[in-house]
Amino acid sequence: MKSALRALQQRSEPGVPAPQIRPRRMRRTQSIRDMVAENAVRVEDLIEPMFVVPGAGVRREISAMPGICQLSADQIVEDARSAAALGIRAVILFGIPERKDDVASGLSDAAGPVQQAIRSLKQALPGLVVIADLCACEYTSHGHCGIVTADGAIDNDATLALLADGALSYARSGADVVAPSDMMDGRVRAIRRALDADGWTDIAIMSYSAKYASAFYGPFREAAESAPAFGDRRTYQMDPANAREAVKEALLDVDEGADIVMVKPAMAYLDVLLRVREAVRVPVAVYNVSGEYSMLKAAAHNGWIDERRAIDELLVSFKRAGADLIVTYFAREFAARSARRSG
Ligand code: PBG
Repeated sequence: MKSALRALQQRSEPGVPAPQIRPRRMRRTQSIRDMVAENAVRVEDLIEPMFVVPGAGVRREISAMPGICQLSADQIVEDARSAAALGIRAVILFGIPERKDDVASGLSDAAGPVQQAIRSLKQALPGLVVIADLCACEYTSHGHCGIVTADGAIDNDATLALLADGALSYARSGADVVAPSDMMDGRVRAIRRALDADGWTDIAIMSYSAKYASAFYGPFREAAESAPAFGDRRTYQMDPANAREAVKEALLDVDEGADIVMVKPAMAYLDVLLRVREAVRVPVAVYNVSGEYSMLKAAAHNGWIDERRAIDELLVSFKRAGADLIVTYFAREFAARSARRSG
């Protein structure tokens, strides 16, 4: 063995000089690697998603998302407090209402779980950025993100009025940001107009601009109890085959007044993220969705993958592809680890 190694070391191709440019120099030690790292994830970039249910004292784990729970408003405050203590600046809320109907009445209910959670959060943690996901699907009996007509189609323009009312309701409860995730045409303009007309000029809009019709939302639909009762979302969410169209959607949303645009899902759409980042001048967010979380957790649980390394690699890949903000179920785990590293 030893002599074989020596033979290899001694051999050099005649006439071929030894390499003078050696990129490996910059990878030699951890300190050098840290010094030349092009990207890093900051805890301040992370947004933690939370699922609000009615009642008090409720903490129900979602079976397909180990470690993630449906929480009542009081429990949301507990979790947000621990997130904030770790340096997380923002949460995004999804609501599961008591009752659902075909016109999503619960969306604008001042006593609804999201409205209640917003009020409790702003009272307990005034500095926390509270983002309210704005969509009808958790509130409709049929599970679609809009008003369904008699022939089973989604009525785009009727849905706009519904979203505008929802945005106003969240603003009145104290939300800092509303985040429309329905993919109806013209929603950002409709929401901006409604907010401004009612005096909420400081409430920002984070738009799910390029939201794809994706299989990776599976576990979320269990968490939010929002699987469509018939058909699918392909007449409003985007076709995974398209990237140019994502740029068009993002530019439209910026034109209509979006303060932040988002690409969703994340892992299978890093190319889209990069294109959107290059096309707009507003912050770009990416949504590391439920299926992405569950896949990684399942593999880690089976001992097939190193969970911490996989999370770090995944999150930095979003930064590399251009994300300013990352919505992720790993937020607190990552933040806890960063706190330990620096402390
Ligand atoms: C719709 C909405 C969805 C998600 C966020 N907002 C699901 C859907 O469109 O079916 C998915 C988030 C995730 O999978 O983590 N309001």
